[in-house]
Amino acid sequence: GKGNYRHFMEKEIHEQPEVMGYTLFHYYRSADRSIALPDLPFDPASLPKLTIVAAGTSFYAGMVAKYWFETLARIPVEIDIASEFRYRNPVMPEGGAALFISQSGESLDTLMALRHARDGGQHIVALVNQPESTIARESDVVLETLAGPEICVASTKAFTTQLVALLTLAVDFARRRGSASKEQLDAVMDSLVHLPAQIGEVLKETEKWLPVSHELSKVRDVLYLGRGLSYPIAMEGALKLKELSYIHAEGYAAGEMKHGPIALLEEGVPVIMVAPMDPWFEKVASNAMEVRARGGRVILLSDRSGINRLGDLATWSFELPECDPMVAPILYTIPVQLLSYFTAAEKGTDVDQPRNLAKSVTVE
Ligand code: F6R
Repeated sequence: GKGNYRHFMEKEIHEQPEVMGYTLFHYYRSADRSIALPDLPFDPASLPKLTIVAAGTSFYAGMVAKYWFETLARIPVEIDIASEFRYRNPVMPEGGAALFISQSGESLDTLMALRHARDGGQHIVALVNQPESTIARESDVVLETLAGPEICVASTKAFTTQLVALLTLAVDFARRRGSASKEQLDAVMDSLVHLPAQIGEVLKETEKWLPVSHELSKVRDVLYLGRGLSYPIAMEGALKLKELSYIHAEGYAAGEMKHGPIALLEEGVPVIMVAPMDPWFEKVASNAMEVRARGGRVILLSDRSGINRLGDLATWSFELPECDPMVAPILYTIPVQLLSYFTAAEKGTDVDQPRNLAKSVTVE
């Protein structure tokens, strides 16, 4: 049941600290910082290429993972949505691996893409929340998220546990490839260990998201912007907002705004900036100034130093805890979920079962 929560989505958002911990410590031991994964049919040290394929929110987890595998493990990564990948003729090198991310393990597009990669001679790795699923059964290696059953159609805890597992995998590959310093990798894992408690703190004060959600519930268009590791989170924020509240939301790489979507900016349009203090921050700051100069209302998601730097031009600022920049996309998913949840709840839409959507998409 839903317990004291109004919707399964709210309950599942609040379960995240716990299930992220389960997932992390399923693979990771902090006492000696060791990572234990299932046996792999390939050596990550000599992997020529990693192909990542998924749909919807799981695809955005893959986009974040691409940054991690490239930056930390220095593996060439190709990513695609399942419904495109399966109809392309992608170049798959001998000995390559393909990773399929799916909460349900049943998305038909993802399953067909898996078979396409198998025909292309790739080693098949699945990251699923349902170990008995078809995608799991057809894979060489199965990594699990321990999110527990997700009832709400919109994915929340499955996504954050996917990210936890993917970052742990990327760190493991980086160690085996000797591609990043021990200090950097230890700092990433230490920050990941602290993350569930930090998210627990954020979830203690959800009332503070109500006034801005009330404003969002009245608008027609919303822009979500981020760069680097925050770009996929901006995409995820826009997807969640549109599917739950039926508000037109666009997620964009902040630097791409000037190449088109800036035309949408008129007086009062809310622009949500996913902006932790990271290597992209100054660029995002100048995008925020462009938004402000055109009368857009900036909703700033950042940490203390980011808000010190930019808070004056924001209509609303929300301070999140400090964490390692590599871990920030997981933390910044939480406000994105809360904004869409409270906006939808304010509009009175069917949060757990939005119109036209199904939990498991087993058709093309
Ligand atoms: C959005 C959402 C969907 C799913 C997508 C893939 O909130 O939940 O976009 O992420 O349908 O589903 P899985 O991960 O089961 O393959």
